[in-house]
Amino acid sequence: MQQTCENDGSETPNLCHCINSNHYNYLIAAVVLLLASVSIVLLISYDRNGGRFTSTASLLPDRHDIYFSESEHILLDGVLKKAAMDDDTVILTVLNAAWAKPGSVLDQFLESFRIGDRTLRLLDHLVIVSMDIQAYNRCKSVHSNCVPLSTPGVDFSGQSDFMTNGYLKMMWKRIDLLWIVLQKGYNFIFTDTDVMWFRDPLPMFYKDGDFQISCDYFRGNPLDIQNNLPNGGFNYVKSNRRTIEFYRFWYASRLKYPGRNDQEVLNFIKADPFINGIGLKIRFLDTAYFGGLCEKSEDFQKVCTMHANCCIGLSRKVLDLRTMLEDWKKFLSFAPNIRNLHSSFWSVPKNCSMQPII
Ligand SMILES: *[C@@H]1O[C@H](CO)[C@@H](O)[C@H](O)[C@H]1NC(C)=O
Repeated sequence: MQQTCENDGSETPNLCHCINSNHYNYLIAAVVLLLASVSIVLLISYDRNGGRFTSTASLLPDRHDIYFSESEHILLDGVLKKAAMDDDTVILTVLNAAWAKPGSVLDQFLESFRIGDRTLRLLDHLVIVSMDIQAYNRCKSVHSNCVPLSTPGVDFSGQSDFMTNGYLKMMWKRIDLLWIVLQKGYNFIFTDTDVMWFRDPLPMFYKDGDFQISCDYFRGNPLDIQNNLPNGGFNYVKSNRRTIEFYRFWYASRLKYPGRNDQEVLNFIKADPFINGIGLKIRFLDTAYFGGLCEKSEDFQKVCTMHANCCIGLSRKVLDLRTMLEDWKKFLSFAPNIRNLHSSFWSVPKNCSMQPII
C-alpha cells in the first residue's frame, strides 16, 4: 500500500489521503513514544529530588546536614505544635551556652517580652533551639518550649565571635533548621536572641510577602532588592512551596561561597534569577519598626524590635542591651497619654562598636 502511494505521488487524491493517514499513524506512534519518554525522565528527576522538579539554579547539593534521631523529631514536632499560633506560626530563636548564662543575652531577651507592650503572651509561641547541652538545660529552667539541637563532635557552646569558624557553622545550621521547620508546614518569625521585643511585630508585617527580613540599613522601599541591606537576625517567613525552594537554594549556596555567613550569601543571591523564577515575594522591613544599633528605630511610639547588630563582642552587647532595656523602661515610666510629649531616645550604641576586640 505504501509503495503504491509513493509511486503515484500526489496525483490521485485518494492515494494521497492514504499516504497521509499512514504517516499519521507513524506520527501518532512517535508522539506517544516521545511523551512516554519525557514523562519517564520527569518522573525520575521528580523522584531524585524528593518530590520536587529540578531547575537550573538548584542543581546544587540538596540535603540537610542536621540529623535528628526519631525521638528528636518527635520532640521537635511536639514543641512546634504546642507553641504554634492558630495560623501555625512559631517564634524561633537559636541559643548557645555563652548567651544562655544567667545575666546574659537570653535573660535580657526574655525580659524584653515581659516589659514590652503586650508582648508577654508571645512567650507562649516562642521556641528556643539550643545548640549545646548547657544552653538546653538553662532553657528548660527559664522557658517551657525548648528543643536541643546538638551536633556530635562539634562544640557550639563558646562565645562564637562574629565570623569565626564556630560562628559560621552555627549560622548555617540555623538556616538548615529553618528550612526543616518550613518543610514541616510552620510559618516562623525567626529572631536572634539579641533582638529586644518591645511590641508585637505581627501587625507590621506586609500582607503579601513570603520572606520578610529586617535590615541593617533600610533605604525606604520595601521592594528594593539592590539597596536595602538585609539582616538575617529577624525575619518572618510563611511556609509555602516558594519559601521551601528558597531555603533549599540559600542553604546550598553556602558551598558556592565558602567562608561567608548566611547574610553575606543572601546579599550575593538575593537578585539571582532563580528567586524570580520561583516567584518568591521578598519584602524588606522598615527600621522605623524593626531597628537596631546600625540604624535605630527612633520613634518609641513605633518601635517593635531593636537588635544589637553592628556590635562585636558579647560583653559589649550585654552592656548595650541593658542600656536599651533601661531606655524602654524610662519611656514606659511616663503615663501613656503623655508619653508623646516627652522626647524619648536611645542612649545606645554606647559600648557596642564594630571595632574588633583586642
Ligand atoms: C561602656 O561605656 C561607658 C560610657 O562610654 C564607659 O564609661 C564604660 O567604661 C564602658 N564599659 C566597658 C566595660 O567598656
